[in-house]
Amino acid sequence: MQSEQNYVNVDDYIQNIYTKNRQKYIETGKKPGMKCITYGCQANAHDSEKICGLLSKMGYEVCGHEEDAAIIIYNTCCVRENAENRVFGNLGQIKKLKSENKDLKVILCGCMVQQDAIVEKIKQSYRFVDVIFGTFNLHKLPVLLYTNMETNSQIIDIWQGAKEAEDDLPALREFKFKASVNIMHGCDNFCAYCIVPYVRGRERSRAPESIINEVEALAKDGVVEVTLLGQNVNSYGKGLPGNVSFANLLGRVAKIDGVKRIRFMTSHPKDFSDELIETIKSNDNVCKHVHLPLQSGSTAVLEKMNRKYSKESYLELVSKLREAIPNIAITTDIITGFPGETDIDNEETINLIKKVQYAGAFTFIYSKRTGTPAAAMDCQIDEETIKRRFDKILNTLNPIVYEISKSHVGNTYEVLAEEVSKSDTGLLTGRLDDNSLVHFKGGEAFIGSFVNVKIIDCKTFYLMGKIMEG
Ligand code: 5AD
Ligand code: SF4
Repeated sequence: MQSEQNYVNVDDYIQNIYTKNRQKYIETGKKPGMKCITYGCQANAHDSEKICGLLSKMGYEVCGHEEDAAIIIYNTCCVRENAENRVFGNLGQIKKLKSENKDLKVILCGCMVQQDAIVEKIKQSYRFVDVIFGTFNLHKLPVLLYTNMETNSQIIDIWQGAKEAEDDLPALREFKFKASVNIMHGCDNFCAYCIVPYVRGRERSRAPESIINEVEALAKDGVVEVTLLGQNVNSYGKGLPGNVSFANLLGRVAKIDGVKRIRFMTSHPKDFSDELIETIKSNDNVCKHVHLPLQSGSTAVLEKMNRKYSKESYLELVSKLREAIPNIAITTDIITGFPGETDIDNEETINLIKKVQYAGAFTFIYSKRTGTPAAAMDCQIDEETIKRRFDKILNTLNPIVYEISKSHVGNTYEVLAEEVSKSDTGLLTGRLDDNSLVHFKGGEAFIGSFVNVKIIDCKTFYLMGKIMEG
């Protein structure tokens, strides 16, 4: 069913569900629980905050476990096949919970369900999923959920593009002191392997005033770190009136009182302007970290990937960044096993890793995504070859990342204490300006504030530190 509702007052539906939940609260003394499981990127994580914001207006309260929830939301990703497989695995387990608790609501949303074949599969084999909606109509959740409650039937509402305001939803932020802000949606780059442009639509930038207003409101609410989100922030402003660029927007955000740290994700190497380098350099509160996805170090592969830069131009950009901002940390994404990739191409990627000296990298095995140009390309690489190349990439990367990590030891940095460490409750976890992760002893009272931390030891992927006085 592809329903496109005419104008409806979503607030009425929020109120209707709130009234039902309020009744339950009066009967049981407990607010109904919501458990949201998010896959994929920061854009999806931020969508989940908006979904939870809506649900909390409807009277739900975050709970720790699926077993305690009245509503379970899977906000899915389809960038790689294994993310989809995990969702199907989880749904299989939820079926049992659903059969034990007839009132439990199961919601499936996000990128994965923008694909027709997936929706067909859900319709056929996962009838117990109550509500399914895509990436363009999160704001319709109250209407869809209420309709399901009233009819007890599976409600599917997938739009093929953006038609209504996407940014005025109340986010239930995971952290009080840091927040993500969408500056744009979608992607126009059509990298040959990537499904994002098909499931998140054409690139559309948000008006600068709307972004500034949101950041000002966040700062007033105690947020000290803001991450500006877009699939390619460098092309921000395209299609907007006037002469707006990402560099200009970043400069304006940096002037907002109370914003002590600004991060941004993701930059495409093809259009990283000199003006942007200057803005990062000249604003102390813009973090000295750039995530600059390489994908491959072979110009031939980059061309087939439709990345629109060469090995040489990538290296030139890195040199410019390092010359202007010597302490900048550069991290990346790398895909191994793109169709037609040879051992020599892989060696080129390895050479580039050595030249750039990345502070961190997300490494991926190429995943064939139906509908993308790469899926139809000849010479898909066999698993064994990919595994061999992938191991070689990791064996090159990890010692480099370790050396950069080690260069922090002995120095003291300003760290934003973010949370109790997930692996050791006696420790706090925080981040340096350059995005390095550090664990250190400290009480929960420090969470959300900046502390001076001396780095005393390091592992490849994190640092160990201790709080210094003053
Ligand atoms: N297979 C493997 N990795 C992919 N990415 C995007 N599409 C694919 C795919 N089909 C990776 C890219 C991108 C990151 C977000 O995900 O490296 O930068
Ligand atoms: Fe995908 Fe390329 Fe767009 Fe990134 S820039 S979301 S990899 S198409």
